[in-house]
This record gives sequence, C-alpha cells and structure tokens, in this order.
Amino acid sequence: MKIVICLSVLLWAPLSEASLLKSALPFPDWLRDFTGLTEWPGLDPPYIPLDFINFAAIEPSSNHKIGECNNILPNSCSFDCSNCVSTEDIFNCPKLSQTFDDGPSAFTLKLINNLKTPSTFFTLGTQIVKYPEIYKQAMAKGNVMASHSWSHKYLPELTNEEIIAQIEWSVWAMNATGHHLPKYFRPPYGGLDNRVRSIVKQFGMTNVLWNFDTHDWKILLGQRKASDILKDITNHKSAGNGLILEHDHSSQTVNVGIDINKILDGQLTVPQCVGGVNYLRTF
Ligand SMILES: *[C@@H]1O[C@H](CO)[C@@H](O)[C@H](O)[C@H]1NC(C)=O
Ligand SMILES: [Zn+2]
Repeated sequence: MKIVICLSVLLWAPLSEASLLKSALPFPDWLRDFTGLTEWPGLDPPYIPLDFINFAAIEPSSNHKIGECNNILPNSCSFDCSNCVSTEDIFNCPKLSQTFDDGPSAFTLKLINNLKTPSTFFTLGTQIVKYPEIYKQAMAKGNVMASHSWSHKYLPELTNEEIIAQIEWSVWAMNATGHHLPKYFRPPYGGLDNRVRSIVKQFGMTNVLWNFDTHDWKILLGQRKASDILKDITNHKSAGNGLILEHDHSSQTVNVGIDINKILDGQLTVPQCVGGVNYLRTF
C-alpha cells in the first residue's frame, strides 16, 4: 500500500509540471501573420499599428505619474485624480455585484468553483498567457471575461502608442484563449482620463469602474482585515445597488471574495447590470 502511494505521488508531480508547461498559450498563426512576431511580449509590449485607430480623435494628454494629480488638464475627467466619470463609463449595478481584477491566477479556480452565480473578470494579458486553461474554465462557468490591459501599467503616463499596445495585446491574448473580443475594459489603478477614454472607445470597448472598493489587496500588507471588509459589505448591502472591486490574484483576496459571495443574494455580471452584450465579437 505504501509503495502505491509513493508511486502515485512520484508520478503526479512530473505530470502536473508537464500539464503546466502544456497550458502556456501558443502564439497563434493569425497573430504571427499580423505582427511578424512569434512569441508573447514581456511587460512592455511593442506597438503594432491598427488601421481603425484615428490618432486625430485621441484627446490631449494630461501626462502625469500615478498620484501626481496637480497638473492634469482641467477638462480631462480623471477618475483616479478627481473621481470623475463620463456618461459612458459604467461604475454601478442595480444589484450589488462583485468584479475581480488582475487574474487569471492559480487562485481563480477556487473562486469560480465557489461563486453561486457568475461574475466579471478583468484579466491581464500577461496572466492569460500563463494561465489560459484557468481563463477558459472561468469562461465555461458563465463568467464574463473583460480586459484589464496587458501588464497593468498606469495608462495616463504612457504615450498613445504605448496605451494602444497595452490594449491590443490584451485583446489578442483574450482572442487567442477565449476566441472573443472584450466589450469591457477596466484601467489599472482606475487610471482613466479623457485621452485614455478616447483610445479605449476606438476599440469598441466601454470603461468599467466601481463604486465600492474593498481594498482587499491591503490584507496582504496586513493593512486591512477580511472581517472588516465583510462588515462593510453587509452594511452596504441594504443600499441594494453597487459594483464591488476585488482581486483574484491571491489566496487571501479569493477567500474574501468567496465570503462576500455568501453574503450577497446572487449577483449580476457587468453586461447584466447594464443590459449589454458579453463580448464585442466571438469567433
Ligand atoms: C481573433 O481570432 C481569430 C481566429 O480565431 C482571427 O481570425 C481574428 O483575426 C482575431 N481577431 C483579433 C482582432 O484578434
Ligand atoms: Zn488591477
């Protein structure tokens, strides 16, 4: 009996490693033909020109680093600097609902297996190419997959070309995995202003923000207690509506997400919140 157990453990380890390697996302032929490249980029993806982008329609830059909000243009409608939203931005839901950023990760699986009803995942391209199978499983369970850029840069400090690169590579990673083009985009750090809006719009996507920030990532820094987040959610629940910002990039935030889900009486996906389509296009 002992030998059998040992053997199965020995067999299991190399097998799981092999399946991890196999699950890395192949670089599709259509993307090789279009970009002339053969592998997924690193944290600074190359800008590949797109014929539908009209540079004349891109709003002027309020170029600034994250948190440096003193010199932004007066009419740039910055979400992170001044909590400004445009009429087209989504930031609320008629039913208090969760959204998850920064995945897919190894922890996403536990989350999707414990959600009572589907949610919305704002995924990073760099994570999709590492965990394409988890992306597909999240999708198969009815969750709506949306974009959170390629590598989580603060967009307002990038050039127009760099912003386009952050979006196009994220969209390509989603298309290579889920065979769809996303309808919803969430800017990293809420870094959204009129210039970023005017670029996201040209991809046919709608920006999605939030009006309930759990600050769940602060649990990892010992700056927030899971029990306090759950208390806040319970208090907020009576309001009925709301869009909650969470993260599926760590075990701690996933566990809070599962506990929040238990408090909610079901929830809506972002397209269900607004009566919109799940994807811009599917292949
Ligand atoms: C999406 O993927 C399909 C192949 O499934 C490809 O033909 C198409 O060009 C891709 N489109 C984009 C915008 O990535
Ligand atoms: Zn994020």
